[in-house]
Amino acid sequence: MLTIPAVGWSPDTRALRILDQRLLPTQEVVRDLQRLPEILDAIRTLAVRGAPAIGVAAAIGLAVALEQESDGAGDIARRLLPDYAAHLIAARPTAVNLAWAVERMVRCAALVTDDALLDRLRVEAEVIRQEDVAMCSAIGRHGLSLIPDGARVLTHCNAGALATAGIGTALAPVYTAHAAGRLVTVYADETRPLRQGARLTAWELSRAGINVTVLPDGAAASLLALQQIDLVIVGADRITANGDVANKVGTYGVALAAKAHGIPFYVAAPWSTIDPATPTGRDIIIEYRDRDELGELPPGVSAWNPAFDVTPRHLVTAYLTDRGLVSPPFTLSVS
Ligand code: MRU
Repeated sequence: MLTIPAVGWSPDTRALRILDQRLLPTQEVVRDLQRLPEILDAIRTLAVRGAPAIGVAAAIGLAVALEQESDGAGDIARRLLPDYAAHLIAARPTAVNLAWAVERMVRCAALVTDDALLDRLRVEAEVIRQEDVAMCSAIGRHGLSLIPDGARVLTHCNAGALATAGIGTALAPVYTAHAAGRLVTVYADETRPLRQGARLTAWELSRAGINVTVLPDGAAASLLALQQIDLVIVGADRITANGDVANKVGTYGVALAAKAHGIPFYVAAPWSTIDPATPTGRDIIIEYRDRDELGELPPGVSAWNPAFDVTPRHLVTAYLTDRGLVSPPFTLSVS
């Protein structure tokens, strides 16, 4: 497991501490961030990334940035809060966990006096972090039965410890099965263009002593066709009320190929990733990113670079949540 958590507090709890994922796997650099611009930059440039991790980062970041900017004055912090919250929510639009965490902080602020505001926000941010750790562990426990000894698992992007405050979502059952003494082999799609699978999933699993093989995204369908995979597990950035799933671009193609070859396709996510306010996948705002991320292109050539795609619910075998394994068709009752 990670020796340095992907997201948390600095030892003096005055800063948001992240492991800078832009530099992995070659360098392990920790950054302590206190000001809103540097926190926004870390989220936008994927120094901290993964739906649950950016929710936790935004909550801790909001608490520390308000404290820093207001110099501890609750009335000033309250005046700054709406603007800070709006900037954080807008930093990445697709993952619901970001808005979910920030809106929770704003609701919490509304319940206290100015004197108590900054302390209360720190407590709420820590509760959000601890809940994320617990949700990951619960996903691991509920997913253990999916991973028998010798299981071969295909995943896309990184939905592991680097994407959360805990042991991950899609990788949580893998870590739990490994801890239970089962042999697990993970096939990690490289995940173009930013290579979260090759750089991050491979890094964290190999550090944990789990077998991991990286493949180019374009090879995933062939691997599934060879029947060398027992199940696919991916994470999610948003699950809509009808069960459609936004996740890293390329997930939809993997889901289609898994369906074509009769291989179960699971989506693992904490309950906070379910968004009952968004009816279907068509209503999800997809983040588009710079052409530079696609590498060198000839001058004048344009790029289409969506960060996420939507997998329709009919391709999902079941949703692995912290509340258990949920199979469609279902009604999402969210509390
Ligand atoms: O752009 P990223 O790296 O933040 O995208 C991450 C993913 O798509 C993950 O699969 C998703 O956030 C789930 S992380 C537990």
